Amino acid sequence: MQPGFARHRIVPENGGARVRIAKVDDARIIRSISIASNVTRDSGAKTGFVEYETPGEDGYVERIKDNPFFYVAESEKGVVGFLSCFADTTIHKLGLDRDEIAMHVSKKPIPFIYADQLAVIDIFWKRGVAVGSLMSAFLGDASAAGYREVWAAVSHSPIRNLAARNLCANFGFRCHEEIHAYKGLVFGIYKKEI
Ligand SMILES: CC(C)(COP(=O)(O)OP(=O)(O)OC[C@H]1O[C@@H](n2cnc3c(N)ncnc32)[C@H](O)[C@@H]1OP(=O)(O)O)[C@@H](O)C(=O)NCCC(=O)NCCS
Repeated sequence: MQPGFARHRIVPENGGARVRIAKVDDARIIRSISIASNVTRDSGAKTGFVEYETPGEDGYVERIKDNPFFYVAESEKGVVGFLSCFADTTIHKLGLDRDEIAMHVSKKPIPFIYADQLAVIDIFWKRGVAVGSLMSAFLGDASAAGYREVWAAVSHSPIRNLAARNLCANFGFRCHEEIHAYKGLVFGIYKKEI
């Protein structure tokens, strides 16, 4: 199977959501899900992107364009989640140069894919959208494209993102190292071999 196979295929999946490759028209809703999922380091939140620098709509358009590894999950009501991943060669081109975690991962031996953002709107949580739909589609495509390593980051402190940690553990990601970033945040850098 070639990367992008899901572009023309909509697969019925868990939680009533279906997964497909993101289109540039999805940039606005993706951005709003990212903003809604953002939390501050002192919020005590149980999950969320910790002070993630959400790009503007144009930034998401750039990340989506010609990217076979950017997915959305949608229900009849519209997009309910997304997963953005980037092949090693594209990380530097996508405005991720200021992202300390992406830059750390960009030094890993190639080839690899970096799974950057995974978010589901809260009313769809715990229904298998993240794993059953988005991650499954991605890992199938990544493996079919010949990739054998996927990297991802999970907040460990001061926000302990238990949902993301469990999700990674259940899906076979292993914590490879912890890094300090953004003056006081600690992230686990997780690797999955596929
Ligand atoms: C993390 C997130 C994407 C999970 O989405 P989801 O669709 O609810 O996840 P799934 O239903 O597919 O659950 C998959 C696994 O994740 C783990 N998990 C998900 N939510 C959890 C929670 N609230 N507490 C503990 N574990 C949780 C479980 O291991 C679960 O498997 P199980 O149902 O067999 O126990 C969602 O909570 C979210 O959008 N959080 C905000 C953004 C974020 O933090 N993203 C991760 C950044 S790395």
